[in-house]
Amino acid sequence: MEIKAVPGRIETYTTDAIIINLFEGVELGGAAGAVDAVLNGAVRELIQNGDFTGKNGQIAVLYPRTLMVAKRVILVGLGQQDKFNVDTVRRASASAILKARDLKANHVASVIQGAGAGGLSIEIAAQAVTEGSLLALYNYRGQKSDEKPEDFPKTLDLLILDEQDTRAADGIKAGMAIAAGVRVARDLVNLPPNFCNPAYMASVASEMALTVGLKFMALDKAQMETLKMGALLGVAQGSDTPPRFIILEHNADRTDLPTVVLVGKGVTFDTGGYDIKTADGMGTMKGDMAGGAAVIGAMGAIAGLNIPLHVVGLVPAADNMISGHAYRPQEVLTASNGVTIEITNTDAEGRLLLADALVYASRYQPKAVVDIATLTGACVTALGAGVAAGLFSTDDQLRDKLMSAGTETAEKLWPLPLFPEYEKSIESNTADIKNSGGARSGVGSAAIFLKHFVSYPAWAHIDMAGMMFDAVDNPYVPKGATGYGVRLLTEFVKRWAE
Ligand code: BES
Ligand code: MN
Ligand code: ZN
Repeated sequence: MEIKAVPGRIETYTTDAIIINLFEGVELGGAAGAVDAVLNGAVRELIQNGDFTGKNGQIAVLYPRTLMVAKRVILVGLGQQDKFNVDTVRRASASAILKARDLKANHVASVIQGAGAGGLSIEIAAQAVTEGSLLALYNYRGQKSDEKPEDFPKTLDLLILDEQDTRAADGIKAGMAIAAGVRVARDLVNLPPNFCNPAYMASVASEMALTVGLKFMALDKAQMETLKMGALLGVAQGSDTPPRFIILEHNADRTDLPTVVLVGKGVTFDTGGYDIKTADGMGTMKGDMAGGAAVIGAMGAIAGLNIPLHVVGLVPAADNMISGHAYRPQEVLTASNGVTIEITNTDAEGRLLLADALVYASRYQPKAVVDIATLTGACVTALGAGVAAGLFSTDDQLRDKLMSAGTETAEKLWPLPLFPEYEKSIESNTADIKNSGGARSGVGSAAIFLKHFVSYPAWAHIDMAGMMFDAVDNPYVPKGATGYGVRLLTEFVKRWAE
């Protein structure tokens, strides 16, 4: 769907559907008031009859007959005014555009939701409408062989008053860059593991790099051997599909800019290895590269927004499989910083990939490093599937910026502690540390494991294990891959640059 800012007035705009909104329990005014006047009180009548209260996401469709040139009016509820925020706009825009799709409306026009009584700036509101609309219409068809149905709607016009005013167009542009990044991530996570392997992830990153203007590199197995990435290679060796170490760089040639590194776990399928998962546990493991997908998508958005920072995205990508050459429990691996790791559970593979990637990050002398990974089932148990990701940080400023980015994007984070006591759980008799803290340990011992590979002042770890598929109650996140992390990381980097 194409979105653009167009000068025009709702009451006189020719379109298949016009989108307006209403807060709960608030006097009719603004665009809804204007439409109500033209329609001889039709909106007021809906409210008076109790058919429309303005509850968040509620939808009503009105037919103007000859009173307006628009074929339909889609009225969407914004909920209570004191609970309003930018995510209300994404949600309302999503609900409204999905209704327009159901009605097979080709051309749709909308007020810039949230810019009126909501009090948001035109740019922020237009960005939120763009994000909510495009993300809601995402539709993964996978390998379905039936004919693809026609897309509705084709265009969305956001109505502005003054042709010279570029604020809405700027917001739309930003929203489109972000939605494109989310789309890349969702496609990668949705794709089955026989399609999305490490080489495929690298090819998607490389193509995206060409489109948006990023520096791209992918290390192969031989290069990883030269770098002595023994932890990553230990995991990868069980699979016939070779690993890749994907590197994307924004503003690669700007030595004047401070550096932020984003690291994403890219396990393209996690069987658990010899410590094999149950059938149920393996059921979502094509999504075990969701952290890596989020980093690739975010790098695309960061380039699209041209954020003034040197940003590096690292994605160690490998399968965790079983075979005659797979790694076994009790083996000892040596990571690229020389730390030796006793394998006590081959299913704790993500932290091994991240270990070598976190070591690699130090070569950029970064001001901050953030990793994101579907790391532990314990994090899902703690925070709930589809609700929030866990956040660990060695630095208060970094934690604060990530938390506020989480609030702004409604990609929720919840802070968890890096208590030194967790070290006890990964003490080994035969190596420096072991890779699993055992049955009773979980999200914290995984985080403290990662800290052994960190050599910079500000590091944060996001455990998004519960967030790869099926967001709870969100109209702009359709069933399947959420694309969680793309908007969060992009907003974080934007805030870090300020
Ligand atoms: N990829 C899994 C974590 C996971 C579980 C993600 C459920 C999404 C949903 C990770 O590699 C894993 O297997 N972790 C183990 C670690 C344990 C063996 C120490 C876990 O959480 O059970
Ligand atoms: Mn695992
Ligand atoms: Zn895993």
